[in-house]
Amino acid sequence: ADSGGSNDYLHGVTPQLMLAVGTAVIGSLQFGYNTGVINAPQSIIESFYNETWSSRFSEPISQTVLTALWSLSVAIFSVGGMFGSFSVGIFANHFGRRNSMLMANVLAFIAAAFMGFSKLASSFEMLIIGRFIVGLYSGLSTGFVPMYVEEISPTSLRGALGTLHQLGVVIGILMAQIFGIESIMGNASLWPLLLGFTLLPAALQCVLLPLCPESPRYLLINCNEESKAHSILMKLRGTDDVSTDMQEMKEESQQMMREKKVTIPELFRSSIYRQPILVAIMLQLSQQLSGINAVFYYSTGIFERVGVSQPVYATIGAGVVNTAFTVVSLFVVEHVGRRPLHLTGLMGMAVSAVFLTVAMALLDQLRWMSYVSMAAVFSFVAFFEIGPGPIPWFIVAELFSQGPRPAAIAVAGFCNWSANFLVGMCFQYVEQLCGPYVFIIFTVLLLGFFVFTYFKVPETKGRTFEEIAADFRQSAGQAADKYLAPDEFNTLRGEDPDL
Ligand SMILES: *[C@@H]1O[C@H](CO)[C@@H](O)[C@H](O)[C@H]1NC(C)=O
Repeated sequence: ADSGGSNDYLHGVTPQLMLAVGTAVIGSLQFGYNTGVINAPQSIIESFYNETWSSRFSEPISQTVLTALWSLSVAIFSVGGMFGSFSVGIFANHFGRRNSMLMANVLAFIAAAFMGFSKLASSFEMLIIGRFIVGLYSGLSTGFVPMYVEEISPTSLRGALGTLHQLGVVIGILMAQIFGIESIMGNASLWPLLLGFTLLPAALQCVLLPLCPESPRYLLINCNEESKAHSILMKLRGTDDVSTDMQEMKEESQQMMREKKVTIPELFRSSIYRQPILVAIMLQLSQQLSGINAVFYYSTGIFERVGVSQPVYATIGAGVVNTAFTVVSLFVVEHVGRRPLHLTGLMGMAVSAVFLTVAMALLDQLRWMSYVSMAAVFSFVAFFEIGPGPIPWFIVAELFSQGPRPAAIAVAGFCNWSANFLVGMCFQYVEQLCGPYVFIIFTVLLLGFFVFTYFKVPETKGRTFEEIAADFRQSAGQAADKYLAPDEFNTLRGEDPDL
């Protein structure tokens, strides 16, 4: 895409490919939607909890129990996500990529039913169970979608089409925020539809997926069905000559066989992987502990407290900023180093969090501080999409070669969802404790991650695994150098020494 003109760039975009990619990213949309959907109707659903509680136990719910139940409803999504992300490999390799996506929709249907009928059944337990199941679905689909899209796209379009996953997620968040407006579905009578809406994209995906092909890479490498893979490739590429693609996949398959698969315990035991996995974990933590989901889960409540007159619209504003900066970062990230982007994003978020804190603290003296706090939230979100949003996933894939990569991604996913859970579960409590100073905690964490990134994270853009490994050896005090000859080192890293 870099060398050719715009014709070259679009070369290879066939209707079949567009249909398949478009259908797959419905899964990304679902993840975004369910991340954002509980934000706007928080107070409405809380009063449903209160009413249900009163009619069941004939006394109003206490603030403590209500906070606990709501935090759980928000955060249990991430517990589901964790289990889901761990099961991605099992399903994708056993049933294939497309069929796995198809099957996962069963979870979306069940979750939609649980959440949509919770009001009718006067049961907040059903809503919580529904959130868990839709979390499971999200954990699975955030694994399936990038995998499928990457495997069906031609090499020249892989980066560009891969970013559609990210875009699907933020558009899903934005959709949820817009549907959450009181006059649409964010009101006392329609909120079950707002949560149950997740049924429609699931149904649409179920209709469209059977028209999409299975990943040719899966058919060739996992199932050894060469002729099937060949004919699907011809349809996807819109040409009879797919020998280059076939060749590339076969080489990848050979490479995979040469590389020993690395297990998760080995990842931590081996001195070669210890540094890179530490970096991968810290970057995932920097994404979630930056406090971004405090905004995506709770921003309407935050805006309400700082006296913004239309908190739901401010939340939508944050969604728009989020989407706009995701688009910006999609263009930037392919051309700029990972380190400077991540550092810029972290520092920008830290500064925004300071502004937000000051604005919240001065709110009683100066009414216009509510505008400052709104602007601070917007820039907080914008800087997130510059660095901590996209970069951690990029780097995990770039730090590890084929052999250790699946294990590394599983560990990274586990850390990401755990930190996501922590923020979703604890934010309201910490906010009750710290009042306007709650974002100071995120500032401290962000600065900590800035320092870590500055000293420990190597640049990965456009570099080979060996070059990156050399950086780690240097910073680890040449420990690996002393014990391993370079060839041995490469073999252990899973690279062919002859390449
Ligand atoms: C629950 O509802 C009652 C009656 O409407 C109200 O007085 C009480 O403040 C509510 N409790 C909470 C924790 O919001």
